[in-house]
Amino acid sequence: MKARIYYFTGTGNSMRAARVIAAGLDNAEIVSMRSRPEDVPATDCDVVGFVYPVYHWTMPAPAISFVKRLEINKDAYVFVVAMPSFICGIACERLASLLSKKGIRIAYGNLVHSVANYVIVYPPFPSPKLRVPATERKLKKIAAEIAERKHRPIPHSSRMLRWRMRSFMGPYLELQKYADNPFTVSDVCISCGLCTRVCPCKNLTMENGKPVFHHHCANCMACVVNCPKRAIGYEITGGDRKLLDASTSKTPLVKIMGLPPKRKLYRNPYITAADLCKDRESADQKSREKNHG
Ligand SMILES: Cc1cc2nc3c(=O)[nH]c(=O)nc-3n(C[C@H](O)[C@H](O)[C@H](O)COP(=O)(O)O)c2cc1C
Ligand code: SF4
Ligand code: SF4
Repeated sequence: MKARIYYFTGTGNSMRAARVIAAGLDNAEIVSMRSRPEDVPATDCDVVGFVYPVYHWTMPAPAISFVKRLEINKDAYVFVVAMPSFICGIACERLASLLSKKGIRIAYGNLVHSVANYVIVYPPFPSPKLRVPATERKLKKIAAEIAERKHRPIPHSSRMLRWRMRSFMGPYLELQKYADNPFTVSDVCISCGLCTRVCPCKNLTMENGKPVFHHHCANCMACVVNCPKRAIGYEITGGDRKLLDASTSKTPLVKIMGLPPKRKLYRNPYITAADLCKDRESADQKSREKNHG
Protein backbone atom coordinates (compact mmCIF):
# COMPACT_ATOMS: atom_id res chain seq x y z
CA MET A 1 0.00 0.00 0.00
CA LYS A 2 1.22 3.50 -0.79
CA ALA A 3 -0.40 6.69 0.47
CA ARG A 4 0.34 10.24 -0.59
CA ILE A 5 -1.08 13.45 0.85
CA TYR A 6 -0.78 16.64 -1.17
CA TYR A 7 -0.91 19.86 0.82
CA PHE A 8 -0.77 23.58 0.20
CA THR A 9 0.14 25.83 3.11
CA GLY A 10 1.11 29.40 3.97
CA THR A 11 1.36 29.41 7.75
CA GLY A 12 1.64 25.69 8.47
CA ASN A 13 -1.86 24.62 9.57
CA SER A 14 -2.34 22.45 6.50
CA MET A 15 1.20 21.04 6.63
CA ARG A 16 0.63 20.04 10.23
CA ALA A 17 -2.70 18.42 9.30
CA ALA A 18 -1.05 16.47 6.47
CA ARG A 19 1.62 15.24 8.87
CA VAL A 20 -0.86 14.09 11.52
CA ILE A 21 -2.98 12.22 8.97
CA ALA A 22 0.11 10.65 7.35
CA ALA A 23 1.30 9.40 10.75
CA GLY A 24 -1.81 7.17 10.95
CA LEU A 25 -1.19 5.55 7.55
CA ASP A 26 1.34 2.92 6.41
CA ASN A 27 3.91 3.91 3.84
CA ALA A 28 2.61 7.47 3.60
CA GLU A 29 4.38 10.58 2.39
CA ILE A 30 3.29 14.18 2.32
CA VAL A 31 4.01 16.22 -0.79
CA SER A 32 3.79 19.97 -1.13
CA MET A 33 1.67 21.39 -3.93
CA ARG A 34 4.71 23.56 -4.65
CA SER A 35 5.96 20.56 -6.61
CA ARG A 36 5.21 20.24 -10.29
CA PRO A 37 2.29 17.77 -10.51
CA GLU A 38 4.10 16.00 -13.36
CA ASP A 39 6.96 15.18 -10.92
CA VAL A 40 4.72 13.64 -8.26
CA PRO A 41 1.80 11.78 -9.91
CA ALA A 42 -0.47 9.62 -7.76
CA THR A 43 -0.83 6.86 -10.33
CA ASP A 44 0.80 4.28 -8.01
CA CYS A 45 -1.04 5.26 -4.81
CA ASP A 46 -3.87 3.41 -3.07
CA VAL A 47 -4.66 6.34 -0.80
CA VAL A 48 -4.59 9.94 -2.06
CA GLY A 49 -5.33 12.96 0.13
CA PHE A 50 -5.64 16.71 -0.35
CA VAL A 51 -5.22 19.20 2.48
CA TYR A 52 -5.38 22.97 2.04
CA PRO A 53 -6.56 26.23 3.61
CA VAL A 54 -9.72 27.99 2.48
CA TYR A 55 -9.14 31.30 0.69
CA HIS A 56 -12.12 33.54 0.00
CA TRP A 57 -14.61 30.67 0.54
CA THR A 58 -12.90 28.40 -1.97
CA MET A 59 -9.77 26.38 -2.72
CA PRO A 60 -6.51 28.37 -3.09
CA ALA A 61 -5.82 29.10 -6.78
CA PRO A 62 -2.38 27.36 -6.77
CA ALA A 63 -4.04 24.19 -5.37
CA ILE A 64 -6.64 24.30 -8.15
CA SER A 65 -4.01 24.49 -10.89
CA PHE A 66 -1.98 21.73 -9.20
CA VAL A 67 -4.93 19.31 -9.08
CA LYS A 68 -5.91 20.08 -12.67
CA ARG A 69 -2.55 18.73 -13.84
CA LEU A 70 -2.19 15.82 -11.38
CA GLU A 71 -2.59 12.23 -12.57
CA ILE A 72 -4.31 10.00 -10.02
CA ASN A 73 -5.04 6.28 -9.71
CA LYS A 74 -8.79 6.05 -10.37
CA ASP A 75 -9.21 3.17 -7.88
CA ALA A 76 -7.56 5.00 -4.97
CA TYR A 77 -9.33 5.92 -1.74
CA VAL A 78 -9.40 9.72 -2.09
CA PHE A 79 -9.97 12.16 0.77
CA VAL A 80 -10.00 15.92 1.32
CA VAL A 81 -9.48 17.90 4.52
CA ALA A 82 -10.03 21.67 4.26
CA MET A 83 -8.61 23.99 6.92
CA PRO A 84 -10.87 27.09 7.11
CA SER A 85 -10.97 29.43 10.04
CA PHE A 86 -14.78 29.77 9.95
CA ILE A 87 -16.35 29.59 6.48
CA CYS A 88 -15.45 26.66 4.26
CA GLY A 89 -17.68 27.80 1.38
CA ILE A 90 -17.19 25.71 -1.75
CA ALA A 91 -13.59 24.69 -0.93
CA CYS A 92 -14.38 20.95 -0.94
CA GLU A 93 -17.01 21.09 -3.71
CA ARG A 94 -14.43 22.78 -5.95
CA LEU A 95 -12.04 19.84 -5.52
CA ALA A 96 -14.87 17.34 -6.06
CA SER A 97 -15.72 19.00 -9.35
CA LEU A 98 -12.06 19.03 -10.49
CA LEU A 99 -11.69 15.34 -9.63
CA SER A 100 -15.00 14.29 -11.17
CA LYS A 101 -13.65 15.50 -14.52
CA LYS A 102 -10.93 12.86 -14.08
CA GLY A 103 -13.52 10.20 -13.20
CA ILE A 104 -12.60 10.25 -9.50
CA ARG A 105 -14.97 10.42 -6.53
CA ILE A 106 -13.98 11.66 -3.09
CA ALA A 107 -14.58 8.94 -0.50
CA TYR A 108 -14.06 11.07 2.59
CA GLY A 109 -14.34 14.82 3.19
CA ASN A 110 -14.00 16.85 6.36
CA LEU A 111 -12.91 20.27 7.59
CA VAL A 112 -10.93 21.46 10.58
CA HIS A 113 -11.56 24.94 11.92
CA SER A 114 -8.12 26.48 12.44
CA VAL A 115 -6.54 29.77 13.47
CA ALA A 116 -7.40 32.51 10.95
CA ASN A 117 -4.06 33.61 9.53
CA TYR A 118 -4.81 36.63 7.29
CA VAL A 119 -2.56 38.73 9.51
CA ILE A 120 -2.22 41.73 7.21
CA VAL A 121 -5.96 42.27 7.57
CA TYR A 122 -6.72 41.08 11.12
CA PRO A 123 -4.86 39.66 14.12
CA PRO A 124 -4.84 35.84 14.28
CA PHE A 125 -8.05 34.56 15.86
CA PRO A 126 -9.44 32.79 17.81
CA SER A 127 -6.54 32.74 20.24
CA PRO A 128 -4.03 30.12 19.02
CA LYS A 129 -3.70 28.94 22.64
CA LEU A 130 -7.33 27.82 22.55
CA ARG A 131 -7.81 26.94 18.91
CA VAL A 132 -4.66 24.89 18.25
CA PRO A 133 -5.42 22.21 20.88
CA ALA A 134 -8.99 21.89 19.53
CA THR A 135 -7.58 21.58 16.00
CA GLU A 136 -5.19 18.87 17.12
CA ARG A 137 -8.02 16.86 18.71
CA LYS A 138 -10.11 17.01 15.56
CA LEU A 139 -7.11 16.11 13.38
CA LYS A 140 -6.43 12.97 15.42
CA LYS A 141 -10.07 11.91 15.02
CA ILE A 142 -9.94 12.51 11.28
CA ALA A 143 -6.61 10.66 10.99
CA ALA A 144 -8.16 7.62 12.70
CA GLU A 145 -11.19 7.69 10.37
CA ILE A 146 -8.99 7.93 7.28
CA ALA A 147 -6.75 5.12 8.57
CA GLU A 148 -9.91 2.97 8.76
CA ARG A 149 -10.87 4.06 5.19
CA LYS A 150 -14.17 5.45 6.42
CA HIS A 151 -16.51 7.11 3.95
CA ARG A 152 -17.94 10.56 4.64
CA PRO A 153 -19.67 13.05 2.33
CA ILE A 154 -17.73 16.24 1.65
CA PRO A 155 -18.89 19.42 3.45
CA HIS A 156 -21.30 21.38 1.25
CA SER A 157 -22.01 25.10 1.23
CA SER A 158 -25.48 26.60 1.59
CA ARG A 159 -27.44 27.75 -1.46
CA MET A 160 -27.22 31.35 -0.19
CA LEU A 161 -23.42 31.14 0.01
CA ARG A 162 -23.15 29.69 -3.48
CA TRP A 163 -25.27 32.56 -4.79
CA ARG A 164 -23.08 35.11 -3.01
CA MET A 165 -20.00 33.36 -4.30
CA ARG A 166 -21.21 33.74 -7.88
CA SER A 167 -22.45 37.33 -7.64
CA PHE A 168 -19.91 38.86 -5.29
CA MET A 169 -16.84 36.67 -4.80
CA GLY A 170 -16.39 35.91 -8.53
CA PRO A 171 -15.38 39.48 -9.45
CA TYR A 172 -13.42 39.76 -6.18
CA LEU A 173 -11.37 36.64 -7.00
CA GLU A 174 -10.54 38.17 -10.38
CA LEU A 175 -8.81 40.98 -8.49
CA GLN A 176 -6.59 38.51 -6.65
CA LYS A 177 -3.92 38.79 -9.33
CA TYR A 178 -3.23 42.23 -7.87
CA ALA A 179 -3.11 40.79 -4.34
CA ASP A 180 0.57 41.58 -3.84
CA ASN A 181 0.49 45.18 -5.07
CA PRO A 182 0.09 46.61 -1.55
CA PHE A 183 3.12 44.78 -0.10
CA THR A 184 6.02 46.97 0.97
CA VAL A 185 9.53 46.15 2.14
CA SER A 186 11.04 48.50 4.69
CA ASP A 187 14.66 49.49 5.24
CA VAL A 188 15.01 47.07 8.16
CA CYS A 189 15.24 44.22 5.62
CA ILE A 190 18.57 42.42 6.09
CA SER A 191 18.50 40.68 2.67
CA CYS A 192 18.39 37.22 4.26
CA GLY A 193 16.16 35.85 1.47
CA LEU A 194 14.01 33.77 3.86
CA CYS A 195 10.82 35.24 2.40
CA THR A 196 11.76 33.92 -1.06
CA ARG A 197 12.36 30.42 0.34
CA VAL A 198 9.10 30.10 2.28
CA CYS A 199 6.90 31.44 -0.54
CA PRO A 200 4.85 28.50 -1.89
CA CYS A 201 4.17 30.30 -5.17
CA LYS A 202 7.70 31.25 -6.28
CA ASN A 203 6.37 34.79 -6.26
CA LEU A 204 9.47 36.37 -4.72
CA THR A 205 13.01 36.84 -5.95
CA MET A 206 15.83 38.88 -4.44
CA GLU A 207 16.85 41.84 -6.54
CA ASN A 208 19.44 44.35 -5.31
CA GLY A 209 19.20 42.83 -1.83
CA LYS A 210 15.41 43.17 -1.51
CA PRO A 211 12.50 40.85 -2.29
CA VAL A 212 10.53 41.70 -5.40
CA PHE A 213 6.91 40.51 -5.85
CA HIS A 214 5.95 39.03 -9.23
CA HIS A 215 2.13 39.18 -9.18
CA HIS A 216 1.21 35.55 -8.84
CA CYS A 217 0.70 35.77 -5.10
CA ALA A 218 -1.81 33.67 -3.14
CA ASN A 219 -1.70 36.07 -0.16
CA CYS A 220 -0.75 33.04 1.93
CA MET A 221 1.09 35.16 4.56
CA ALA A 222 4.21 32.97 4.64
CA CYS A 223 6.60 35.81 3.76
CA VAL A 224 4.95 38.22 6.22
CA VAL A 225 4.98 35.92 9.24
CA ASN A 226 8.44 34.44 8.67
CA CYS A 227 10.41 37.62 8.05
CA PRO A 228 12.78 37.88 11.04
CA LYS A 229 12.71 41.69 10.87
CA ARG A 230 8.98 42.24 10.21
CA ALA A 231 10.13 44.13 7.15
CA ILE A 232 7.16 43.19 4.95
CA GLY A 233 4.27 45.62 5.30
CA TYR A 234 0.96 46.10 3.53
CA GLU A 235 -0.31 49.51 2.51
CA ILE A 236 -3.42 50.56 0.65
CA THR A 237 -3.61 54.15 -0.49
CA GLY A 238 -6.50 56.22 -1.87
CA GLY A 239 -5.24 59.28 -3.73
CA ASP A 240 -2.55 60.78 -1.50
CA ARG A 241 -4.01 59.20 1.63
CA LYS A 242 -2.85 56.01 3.28
CA LEU A 243 -6.04 54.01 4.00
CA LEU A 244 -4.47 50.90 5.43
CA ASP A 245 -1.00 50.24 6.74
CA ALA A 246 -1.17 47.04 8.71
CA SER A 247 1.96 47.91 10.70
CA THR A 248 0.58 51.04 12.36
CA SER A 249 -2.69 51.90 14.08
CA LYS A 250 -2.74 55.42 12.67
CA THR A 251 -4.43 54.79 9.31
CA PRO A 252 -8.26 54.97 9.06
CA LEU A 253 -8.92 51.34 8.06
CA VAL A 254 -6.67 50.04 10.81
CA LYS A 255 -8.64 52.09 13.35
CA ILE A 256 -12.04 51.01 11.97
CA MET A 257 -10.99 47.38 11.98
CA GLY A 258 -9.61 47.66 15.53
CA LEU A 259 -6.21 46.26 14.60
CA PRO A 260 -3.50 46.29 17.27
CA PRO A 261 -0.71 48.92 16.94
CA LYS A 262 1.88 46.18 16.42
CA ARG A 263 0.82 43.56 13.93
CA LYS A 264 0.42 40.11 15.50
CA LEU A 265 1.86 37.24 13.51
CA TYR A 266 0.93 33.56 13.42
CA ARG A 267 2.54 30.34 12.28
CA ASN A 268 1.31 26.91 13.36
CA PRO A 269 3.34 26.07 16.50
CA TYR A 270 4.29 22.60 15.20
CA ILE A 271 5.79 23.98 11.99
CA THR A 272 9.01 25.99 11.63
CA ALA A 273 10.27 28.32 8.93
CA ALA A 274 12.86 25.62 8.18
CA ASP A 275 10.01 23.14 7.49
CA LEU A 276 8.51 25.58 4.99
CA CYS A 277 11.90 26.06 3.30
CA LYS A 278 12.50 22.30 3.24
CA ASP A 279 9.27 21.61 1.42
CA ARG A 280 10.40 23.99 -1.33
CA GLU A 281 13.81 22.27 -1.48
CA SER A 282 12.21 18.84 -1.74
CA ALA A 283 9.87 20.06 -4.52
CA ASP A 284 12.91 21.39 -6.43
CA GLN A 285 14.81 18.14 -5.78
CA LYS A 286 11.91 16.04 -7.17
CA SER A 287 11.94 18.22 -10.26
CA ARG A 288 15.69 17.72 -10.75
CA GLU A 289 15.35 13.93 -10.30
CA LYS A 290 12.56 13.82 -12.86
CA ASN A 291 14.56 15.87 -15.35
CA HIS A 292 17.62 13.63 -14.97
CA GLY A 293 15.93 10.48 -15.47
C1 LIG B 1 -6.07 35.21 1.65
C2 LIG B 1 -6.80 34.46 2.72
C3 LIG B 1 -8.16 34.22 2.59
C4 LIG B 1 -8.84 33.49 3.57
N1 LIG B 1 -10.16 33.22 3.39
C5 LIG B 1 -10.82 32.43 4.29
C6 LIG B 1 -12.19 32.09 4.10
O1 LIG B 1 -12.83 32.45 3.10
N2 LIG B 1 -12.80 31.35 5.05
C7 LIG B 1 -12.14 30.91 6.16
O2 LIG B 1 -12.75 30.24 6.99
N3 LIG B 1 -10.82 31.21 6.38
C8 LIG B 1 -10.15 31.95 5.47
N4 LIG B 1 -8.81 32.23 5.64
C9 LIG B 1 -8.10 31.63 6.80
C10 LIG B 1 -7.31 30.35 6.42
O3 LIG B 1 -8.07 29.49 5.61
C11 LIG B 1 -6.89 29.58 7.68
O4 LIG B 1 -6.26 30.40 8.57
C12 LIG B 1 -6.02 28.36 7.32
O5 LIG B 1 -6.04 27.46 8.39
C13 LIG B 1 -4.59 28.73 6.99
O6 LIG B 1 -3.91 27.54 6.61
P1 LIG B 1 -2.34 27.42 6.44
O7 LIG B 1 -1.74 27.71 7.81
O8 LIG B 1 -2.12 26.01 6.03
O9 LIG B 1 -1.90 28.41 5.43
C14 LIG B 1 -8.13 32.98 4.70
C15 LIG B 1 -6.77 33.25 4.83
C16 LIG B 1 -6.10 33.97 3.86
C17 LIG B 1 -4.63 34.22 4.02
S1 SF4 C 1 12.70 37.74 5.08
FE1 SF4 C 1 12.53 39.89 5.64
S2 SF4 C 1 14.62 40.50 6.12
FE2 SF4 C 1 14.75 38.59 4.93
S3 SF4 C 1 14.96 39.27 2.78
FE3 SF4 C 1 12.77 38.94 3.18
S4 SF4 C 1 12.00 40.96 3.77
FE4 SF4 C 1 14.22 41.04 3.96
S1 SF4 D 1 4.55 36.55 -1.88
FE1 SF4 D 1 4.21 36.18 0.30
S2 SF4 D 1 1.98 36.19 0.54
FE2 SF4 D 1 2.40 35.99 -1.68
S3 SF4 D 1 2.38 33.78 -2.05
FE3 SF4 D 1 4.51 34.34 -1.61
S4 SF4 D 1 4.78 34.04 0.58
FE4 SF4 D 1 2.59 34.05 0.15
